[in-house]
Amino acid sequence: MAALPRDATVAVFGAGAMGAGIAQVAAQAGHRVLVFDARINAADDAKRRVGEALAALAAKGKLATADATAAAARVEAIHTPGDAASAQLVIEAIVEDLEAKRELFRQVENVTSPDTILATNTSSISITAIGAELKRPSRVAGMHFFNPAPLMPLVEIVRGLATDPEVEATLHATALAWGKSAVRAQSTPGFIVNRCARPYYAEALRLLAERAADPATLDALMREAGGFRMGPFELMDMIGHDVNFAVTKGVWEAFFHDPRFTPSVHQQELVNAGFLGRKSGRGFYDYAPGAAKPVPATEGPQAAPPHVVVHGDLGPAAALVDRMVARGVLLERRDAHDAFAGGAIAVGGTWLALTDGRTATARAVAAGVGDLVLFDLALDYGTATRVAVARADACGDAALATAVGALQTAGLAVSRVDDVAGLPVMRTVAMLANEAADAVQQGIASPADVDAAMRLGVGYPRGPLAWADAIGLARVRDVLANLALHYGEPRYRIAPRIARRACGGGRLAD
Ligand SMILES: NC(=O)c1ccc[n+]([C@@H]2O[C@H](COP(=O)([O-])OP(=O)(O)OC[C@H]3O[C@@H](n4cnc5c(N)ncnc54)[C@H](O)[C@@H]3O)[C@@H](O)[C@H]2O)c1
Repeated sequence: MAALPRDATVAVFGAGAMGAGIAQVAAQAGHRVLVFDARINAADDAKRRVGEALAALAAKGKLATADATAAAARVEAIHTPGDAASAQLVIEAIVEDLEAKRELFRQVENVTSPDTILATNTSSISITAIGAELKRPSRVAGMHFFNPAPLMPLVEIVRGLATDPEVEATLHATALAWGKSAVRAQSTPGFIVNRCARPYYAEALRLLAERAADPATLDALMREAGGFRMGPFELMDMIGHDVNFAVTKGVWEAFFHDPRFTPSVHQQELVNAGFLGRKSGRGFYDYAPGAAKPVPATEGPQAAPPHVVVHGDLGPAAALVDRMVARGVLLERRDAHDAFAGGAIAVGGTWLALTDGRTATARAVAAGVGDLVLFDLALDYGTATRVAVARADACGDAALATAVGALQTAGLAVSRVDDVAGLPVMRTVAMLANEAADAVQQGIASPADVDAAMRLGVGYPRGPLAWADAIGLARVRDVLANLALHYGEPRYRIAPRIARRACGGGRLAD
């Protein structure tokens, strides 16, 4: 399906943060763009802001001056909805309110041609519901840009139950022609990104509620071991707790209170207190001038072990031992130990193993050993700079020091967290993959689109489905099963696609 022709007029309703950015994207792609806003002067102001943004791009050499000038000249402020009559594509980015959006499209469809596409930038409202009472619900679809629209590469094209496949295809091709990466999604709460990203915040808030570690330590682990650009707490502080809490609550309510999405009381209290994050000067962190930046908890230096024994296959953690060997540690390999089917490292009398979703204490009891230290997942054990450990209740101080020394020898900073099930990075990644797998299973989007959406929409270092494949689906399934057992809550129920493919040997990302 072809993209909207370049000579087609685009109208943008709502000239706020998103509308102005979308107008810029469309103008840069060569369209005449009409901008309307209910607020007096807002459309003219948006035109001015777009002009300034384009001039700044030209000044930085990112755009030819002539192109910037021409694109700015293609943006026109209009002052009544009727002025948008010639538009072939209308994109609304007005207030996030179903009735307001319905009313706007009612007016717009009375003045535009029957072929005009009515696209909504809504983040959370059902596309089906927005289109339902219109004359032509088949012309309505979601075109969900991310903020700031000119910079963020992802656009989710969202179809409602009545959306004409041709409309979806045209919008998809148009987003590509505008230089964006476009993914397709069915209209369900949160679409792809706002749904599949929930566990990133939810697991962090849960870990904090259980006092596994402080925010600075958990953030450092998610960045330095998980490879995420920002830790969940600093990210929530940046997004704003009012916004982040509202999205979580909205998705939870829209899924009829599915415990997968239960919001956090802790975050609600931050909202109640007005501790909204950066914008209010305080959230999880204090942003007052001169406030001390909290540092992650890091174990002090311990002696390097001369010799380690690897039992069985460490799976994704194999590179950890390579790093120890590169630092002169002698390595001996043995068959898997009965108690550690997923592989383990023995350092003297201390056992070190990758988390399988159980606490270290539960696992030590099951294995019949005392000195057990579990370590967390890393995106890449060959390059990670930090890792979390948890020790079993029966594990002595000397054994902990031995385990820490071995990991430090691999070049890792070690953060000890309380003995929580699944450890921070592993349980977060397992739950991200779980949600992504359910979205695919339910036909919301293809595996490739889900992974692309999470990499491009929220900057994850790897799509959650491909990440689960890299960890090994059987391991991910076991982590989820153990979390479900540990908590006894349906929140950790295993996505059918993971359960099935882990047995059948398939991959999630295919
Ligand atoms: N801000 C984000 O990060 C983000 C990201 C993706 C999607 N969205 C969605 O985009 C939409 C706009 O968000 P925003 O952040 O740009 O909001 P905003 O408050 O910055 O801008 C909204 C604009 O719409 C105008 N407006 C309100 N009602 C109107 C009406 N009936 N007719 C014409 N103009 C009207 C307002 O005057 C305002 O200028 C919302 O649906 C939001 O959920 C926002």
